[in-house]
Amino acid sequence: MVMNFVCVFLLSVLVLSLGVSSEPVEDKQALLAFLSQTKHENRVQWNSSTSACDWVGVECDANRSFVYTLRLPGVGLVGSIPPNTVGRLNQLRVLSLRANRLSGPIPADFSNLTLLRSLYLQYNEFTGPFPPSLTRLTRLIRLDISSNNFTGPIPFAVNNLTQLTRLFLQNNKFSGSLPTINTDGLDDFNVSNNNLNGSIPGSFSKFRESSFAGNLGLCGGPLPPCNPFSPSPAPSPSEPIPPTTSSRKSRELSTGAIIGIAVGSAIVALLLLLVLILCLCKRTRRPPKQQKPFTPMTTRDVPSAEAGTSSSKDEIIGGSSTEGERNKLVFFEGGIYSFDLEDLLRASAEVLGKGSVGTSYKAVLEEGTTVVVKRLKDVAVSKREFEMQMEMVGKITHENLVPLRAFYYAIDEKLLVYDFMHDGSLSALLHGSRGSGRTPLDWDNRMKIALSTARGLEHLHVSAKLVHGNIKSSNILLRSDHKACISDFGLNPLFGNTTPPSRVAGYRAPEILETCKVTFESDVYSFGVLLLELLTGKAPNQASLGEEGIDLPRWVQSVVREEWTAEVFDVELMRYHSIEEEMVQLLQIAMTCVSTVPDQRPAMQEVVRMIEDMNRGETDDGLRQSSDDRSKGSDGHTPTESRTPPRSSTP
Ligand SMILES: *[C@@H]1O[C@H](CO)[C@@H](O)[C@H](O)[C@H]1NC(C)=O
Ligand SMILES: *[C@@H]1O[C@H](CO)[C@@H](O)[C@H](O)[C@H]1NC(C)=O
Ligand SMILES: *[C@@H]1O[C@H](CO)[C@@H](O)[C@H](O)[C@H]1NC(C)=O
Ligand SMILES: *[C@@H]1O[C@H](CO)[C@@H](O)[C@H](O)[C@H]1NC(C)=O
Ligand SMILES: *[C@@H]1O[C@H](CO)[C@@H](O)[C@H](O)[C@H]1NC(C)=O
Ligand SMILES: *[C@@H]1O[C@H](CO)[C@@H](O)[C@H](O)[C@H]1NC(C)=O
Ligand SMILES: *[C@@H]1O[C@H](CO)[C@@H](O)[C@H](O)[C@H]1NC(C)=O
Repeated sequence: MVMNFVCVFLLSVLVLSLGVSSEPVEDKQALLAFLSQTKHENRVQWNSSTSACDWVGVECDANRSFVYTLRLPGVGLVGSIPPNTVGRLNQLRVLSLRANRLSGPIPADFSNLTLLRSLYLQYNEFTGPFPPSLTRLTRLIRLDISSNNFTGPIPFAVNNLTQLTRLFLQNNKFSGSLPTINTDGLDDFNVSNNNLNGSIPGSFSKFRESSFAGNLGLCGGPLPPCNPFSPSPAPSPSEPIPPTTSSRKSRELSTGAIIGIAVGSAIVALLLLLVLILCLCKRTRRPPKQQKPFTPMTTRDVPSAEAGTSSSKDEIIGGSSTEGERNKLVFFEGGIYSFDLEDLLRASAEVLGKGSVGTSYKAVLEEGTTVVVKRLKDVAVSKREFEMQMEMVGKITHENLVPLRAFYYAIDEKLLVYDFMHDGSLSALLHGSRGSGRTPLDWDNRMKIALSTARGLEHLHVSAKLVHGNIKSSNILLRSDHKACISDFGLNPLFGNTTPPSRVAGYRAPEILETCKVTFESDVYSFGVLLLELLTGKAPNQASLGEEGIDLPRWVQSVVREEWTAEVFDVELMRYHSIEEEMVQLLQIAMTCVSTVPDQRPAMQEVVRMIEDMNRGETDDGLRQSSDDRSKGSDGHTPTESRTPPRSSTP
């Protein structure tokens, strides 16, 4: 009897839980209460007659019995978070309300979100002290409350958060001294641009200077040492910490730092001396008779051969090599330049970059023309093969490819002459000195770069039947209208099979490790990595991806799997609202390009089409001016019927 009763009871509970509570009723009420009390954009419309699990920004667990993540980044939420709303979602794992205009303090009932692992509240206008409720959330792994108006001290109770790997507090108004925080598990930490003062505890010495910059009163650690004569107290007494291992550690580390500084300055002094000696030597020595490009010459001792017009292939007798053979600077038809090797040798040169194929110089000729000269190293082919390859490359013209203007071959010197692009490389634009004074690359321009690069690569693949083999952001050069041009194409065959596999690390398709051969598919992979770089603002092989040896595609995949797509995007894009949908679309295209299996990657023609189709959707949001890509399409492309990029690829 009892058994039967229990069975019936259990069955009815099961039926009830399957039939009625296929959605989290209480969580739904809490969410509706939140949205009804908070001003927001129309984009977020939660229909109370559908399941909360299907709402924009809401994800439930597999059984749809509670809300697991809530993500409303950049949806124009205004005002303070009402108490007894979000704080009731007590099963929440991820909460992202970043890039809104939320203000006031964080409600005390956030302390009930005890299962929370990631909390993103950056780029809002929150005020008040460091939210005391947050130090109860002991499962937090990532906490970002940067770029708000928080004030007061950073509490010692942050040590309660023992699982933290990332703590971002920068761009607030926190004051007082930095407490000693156990940083063993902490990989990312930033308190820059606050009003902190006093000395930095030793446990922070593993972080870089930029994590602490912008605090006028902070000193020690990675920052300049504290002045012992200033009124600020000595480091150890100011610490509210009992003398445990950590303070011993801090003393050890500071001795290490002192030794480091001493050794460092000695090396710097030595280097300075060396440079001085070198300069003196160079000044006294006459340039050698054997002409080397970019050897500074004081007089124009060889009258320049008449350069002639650049109408047809100009062959100018240049400097003779030691073998006495005649070497020529070979120009291509339709070129715009008229100078010879002598002019080039006399040009003032400045190193633009040392790349995998050689060193590039910016050469300013005496008459004012500026060109880029690439000095190739490790060329593995004969003169004839070299000339044939260069003839072929010289014929390729497309508005998204940097044209090769001339080449020069001698036994000991191989030079290529290209147009100089004033706006530099994509790599410099994305990663060069972030923050101060630099205008971030906005979304429209990133889209332009993505599309124009795709068109350039499509032309290489389809019309020229050429594998690039070295697609990376430093090979993407920009014109003033932010259209991109691909450089360094057609050089791959010059280096034979000796190409060290490390050459394009970060952009290299996985199969190349085995085949040692670049293909159209591997170019598409590299292009996908380039798109990810545009989206995330992260260099594909930099250490800032957090884990050692992880590449950008895998990093993006891991973040997308664990969190949500939006968290991978470049913070510099966060100021632009209502572009998230496009960013997600481009991310999807990028992810198909970086498929591990080469056959699953789309061809470049398809990639171009997908990006073009994506651009078409932009007219339906009034906030952005439409890009002119479609009207000025390089290849006269006319829009065809609308297509959506494949969704199946979303991780
Ligand atoms: C809400 O969903 C119901 C059922 O799906 C639908 O009939 C109704 O039109 C929706 N309301 C709004 C405002 O979209
Ligand atoms: C879903 O419910 C089933 C049975 O009701 C349970 O065994 C399972 O653990 C639940 N899964 C989750 C993720 O809660
Ligand atoms: C946390 O939740 C409990 C029960 O759900 C409730 O009694 C308590 O008031 C909540 N705490 C806060 C600070 O709201
Ligand atoms: C630290 O966490 C514990 C729970 O693990 C909590 O009881 C305590 O109040 C927290 N301390 C502070 C200062 O928040
Ligand atoms: C936050 O601080 C900034 C800069 O000081 C100020 O312009 C802004 O008005 C502040 N916002 C609030 C809500 O206090
Ligand atoms: C740091 O600033 C606070 C005021 O914000 C002040 O009371 C304290 O004395 C300062 N400490 C040091 C070491 O300068
Ligand atoms: C810390 O934040 C500042 C301001 O946002 C930024 O400039 C700096 O690069 C960051 N440093 C690190 C190590 O993340």
